Amino acid sequence: MPNDEQPHGIARGLTNYGDRDFSIYLRRSFASSMGYSREMLGKAIVGIAYTPSGFNNCHRHFPEMLEAVKRGVLAAGALPVEFPTISLGEVFLNPTSLKFRNLMSMDTEEMIRAQPMDAVVLMGGCDKTVPAQLMGAASADLPAVQLVAGPMMTSRYGEERLGACTDCRRFWAKYRAGEIDEPGIRNIEMRLATTAGTCAVMGTASTMACIAEALGMSLPGTAAIPAVHADRLRAAEATGATAVELISNPVRPSEVITRTSIENALRVLLALGGSTNAIIHLTAVAGRLGIDIPLTWLNELSDTTPVLVNLKPVGLHYMEDFFFAGGLGAVLRELKPLLNLDCMTVAGETLGERLERDPGPVDRSVIAPASSPLEPQGGLVALFGSLAPRGAILKRSAADPDLFEKEGRAVVFNSLEDLATRVDDPELDITADDFMVLQNAGPTSTSGMPEAGYLPIPKKLSAAGVKDMVRISDARMSGTAFGTIVLHVTPEAAGGGPLAFVRTGDRIRLSVKNRRIDLLVDDDEMARRRDAWTDRRRDPSTLRGYDKLYAEQVLQADKGCDFGLLKPLQNG
Ligand code: FES
Repeated sequence: MPNDEQPHGIARGLTNYGDRDFSIYLRRSFASSMGYSREMLGKAIVGIAYTPSGFNNCHRHFPEMLEAVKRGVLAAGALPVEFPTISLGEVFLNPTSLKFRNLMSMDTEEMIRAQPMDAVVLMGGCDKTVPAQLMGAASADLPAVQLVAGPMMTSRYGEERLGACTDCRRFWAKYRAGEIDEPGIRNIEMRLATTAGTCAVMGTASTMACIAEALGMSLPGTAAIPAVHADRLRAAEATGATAVELISNPVRPSEVITRTSIENALRVLLALGGSTNAIIHLTAVAGRLGIDIPLTWLNELSDTTPVLVNLKPVGLHYMEDFFFAGGLGAVLRELKPLLNLDCMTVAGETLGERLERDPGPVDRSVIAPASSPLEPQGGLVALFGSLAPRGAILKRSAADPDLFEKEGRAVVFNSLEDLATRVDDPELDITADDFMVLQNAGPTSTSGMPEAGYLPIPKKLSAAGVKDMVRISDARMSGTAFGTIVLHVTPEAAGGGPLAFVRTGDRIRLSVKNRRIDLLVDDDEMARRRDAWTDRRRDPSTLRGYDKLYAEQVLQADKGCDFGLLKPLQNG
């Protein structure tokens, strides 16, 4: 329980009326109207950042999880108080959920800071919610524990096992290629996502759940428990109890999220073959504590981190298989010689201590041993070159190695609208050897960096059996997608990065071996194109409200697409 010298529980952070005793009297009076006894109002408080929403299918079991968290808090002797924040349901947001991640992080940070709580449980799950909560909690720096939604269970379509959302794309590609008819795709549509929880593969939500656990911000063994499994409720109960423990033995986010724990999280990201989005989110979380993640660091770690997990979208299995195969604990044990074991976790033990007492069985068809990995090097790699001076990301574990060392002719789409209009035109001049290039889909573009980097293979090529091509953009890609796709090209086209000056017919050279992506156009021609270029960023003076704040403040992908004003103040 808290130190009696310090105000705690309901007496923390009083509303200011110029009379402290009046403030506490008034607050207790209004809190009493909710039926609390005086005894309960004397206890320490665990706030619960609670994010159910009718627009968030992934969080539909949160009412039941909330009860379990509260049970854990009460049994440990504190008062649980949930409070709502913004919830981001991935597929319900326009133009893209990423635009609102920073808004949710601000909401989370400010409500943790403004309301009287001694510790906080963060209930999140769907793609942007966990990063937003970790960013907010890192900035507020009150003891916090992340509790994730857990993944959906899979479903069936005939003989086939289905799970959102790698299979969404797989079947849509078959439909586009004419291999599935209209009634078939309607039937599949109803079976892709059938339970509560986050996408059933190692997409962004599952990757971020694993990263939260690897950082030490959530309890050991909790990242992969299926949403509907009774263990998820036990994890919720234990999370509530842990938050109470953190009141008397505080471990703050700034003590958990450190350069060394971030290195562990990057290793885990690479070993999972995890989502490309996670590098943006982890960069943003680390940035809140003043820690940079240069993409050269990602490459150094990638060279020495094996891919161990055989999960879709890269491999064969689903998140429920990962859970039963041993979950993240099994991956951490394989990576142990590469990890910083002295990192502190919210459980009050170091990572090394956790791994000592956590042997557990492993299903080797899902989680490979480090001595015989699925791939000897990590799943993500950063590319640099004249097309991406500040970097771009390729998920090599989800790409076709035959396309890794290749020069091709650019076929350029200058916006998402242009892509939608022309990509399926039978007259489009394109072959499977060309490089598809999408411009103006970065963070400051009107589209707000959507998950549009998985450019559809033109219909005439997919009908001819083409499954993959080199695709390049300043957009992102869903964590559930796959292909030889170069993403997050930085600086972006809308602000005048070299990507803006690519023209159809130019040559581009990709070399994954050399970590290069180069536009083969000479400097004079580039200068001519630059002179004729017009800024495609949204003009803040024409905007108001959050749109204006976003346009003024959003940073590039290599800074996590956070807002400049949310970075920590420099000391001195
Ligand atoms: Fe919520 Fe995929 S839609 S995690």
